Amino acid sequence: MEKHIREAIRIIRQNDRGTYTVPTHRLYPYQWNWDSGFTALGLWQYDRNRAWLELSQLLESQWEDGMVPHIVFRKLDPDYFPGPLIWQTNTEPPSSGHSQPPVLSSVVFELVRRGDEFDLNKGRELFSRLIRYHRWFVKARDPQQRGVLGIIHPWESGRDNCPDWDIGMKNVVVPDDLVSYQRRDTAHVDSEQRPTESQYERFLAILQYGRRAKWNHQLIYEQGPFLMADPGVQFVFIRATRDLLQLAKCFGYEEYYEEIQSWISRFSEGSNWLWNEEAGGFCARDLRTDIFSDAITNASMLCFYAGVGSPSQNTRTLNHAHRILDSCKFGMPSWDPAHSKFEPRRYWRGPVWAIMNYMIAKGLSESNEESLAARIRGDTIHLIENYGMAEYFDPTTGAALGGMDFSWTAAMYLEFAHKRVRDALGDSKRA
Ligand code: DGY
Repeated sequence: MEKHIREAIRIIRQNDRGTYTVPTHRLYPYQWNWDSGFTALGLWQYDRNRAWLELSQLLESQWEDGMVPHIVFRKLDPDYFPGPLIWQTNTEPPSSGHSQPPVLSSVVFELVRRGDEFDLNKGRELFSRLIRYHRWFVKARDPQQRGVLGIIHPWESGRDNCPDWDIGMKNVVVPDDLVSYQRRDTAHVDSEQRPTESQYERFLAILQYGRRAKWNHQLIYEQGPFLMADPGVQFVFIRATRDLLQLAKCFGYEEYYEEIQSWISRFSEGSNWLWNEEAGGFCARDLRTDIFSDAITNASMLCFYAGVGSPSQNTRTLNHAHRILDSCKFGMPSWDPAHSKFEPRRYWRGPVWAIMNYMIAKGLSESNEESLAARIRGDTIHLIENYGMAEYFDPTTGAALGGMDFSWTAAMYLEFAHKRVRDALGDSKRA
């Protein structure tokens, strides 16, 4: 294991661009929102200052309205498309036009919880930006106060090409004047492991709509070509909001308790709208047509992480977890292998992701489902140690897929090996 700890640290250092970490070189040469959040968890274990810098740099890209964008383009790199000239958000630093699953408050709380006075002070410095970020989600992504967050682009879910989004993507019209483009991702990774051409042009059609709407999020929510609810974003947000409340308590910021608590109640209750009785799980749903996705995903499993669901909903979800894990060699696949759309090698249509496993296992542990959590952690460690620190893995063979030497996978390895990293490095080397 020590060899892999050293390898994980080497990878994160290799992807370090001074003040931010890229997910991996060439395929993703900028700072991504939730990538940086998860990477900070790994960074913290051997360099606490650097971990806090990662988070503060990301939060410095916060828009005036509170949004933290999903990509920050600090240094132009022609290896990636679509870059800042396509997004045209006119922000400083240049950034993309929507957000990503808001894991940041959870990461900050985790570091504060594990750390000492130094971490407490660093966390306090970020609190006002975090609460503004949550306020933005509440206002811009649930303007009708239904307790359900909408995503305006599949990229906002972070689960870009999951079959969940096929429902909303079917209604996205590709305009004749779609921006001309040349994909860069398929120059770095086998196209069989990436979104298809027809998905890609719809991704760009939604982007182009946002750009024409001058990134007016009220307009995009009301009239944009795509609006779906995602159990992933919903559950990550609820968890992050619970963690934000814990942070407010750590800092004694009583004036925020009621506001934050009201979000936890509103979105926990609203989550019921995502319960698909027929599928027996929390599923994505189109906010314009009410149509449900009909499959269980790794995002469905995050209900435990969010602390959401009735006892019977949780039991049915657990039954799926056992069934799905028994049906493939390595869990947790991003799409149910029993479903006809399962593709074990294509990005979010089947492969296993270490960061999702981290959140799922954490939620299961906290719900007294320790043996299931240990199984998922064990699969993740096995995959990484035997196949490499890849972006994602084939659940049927374990093959490493997507980008290699991936920051958040390396960080999750350090996270799963947490106690051993501390023993190997010693506390004194971390600060
Ligand atoms: C990509 O370029 O594939 C990214 O996932 C978008 O965020």
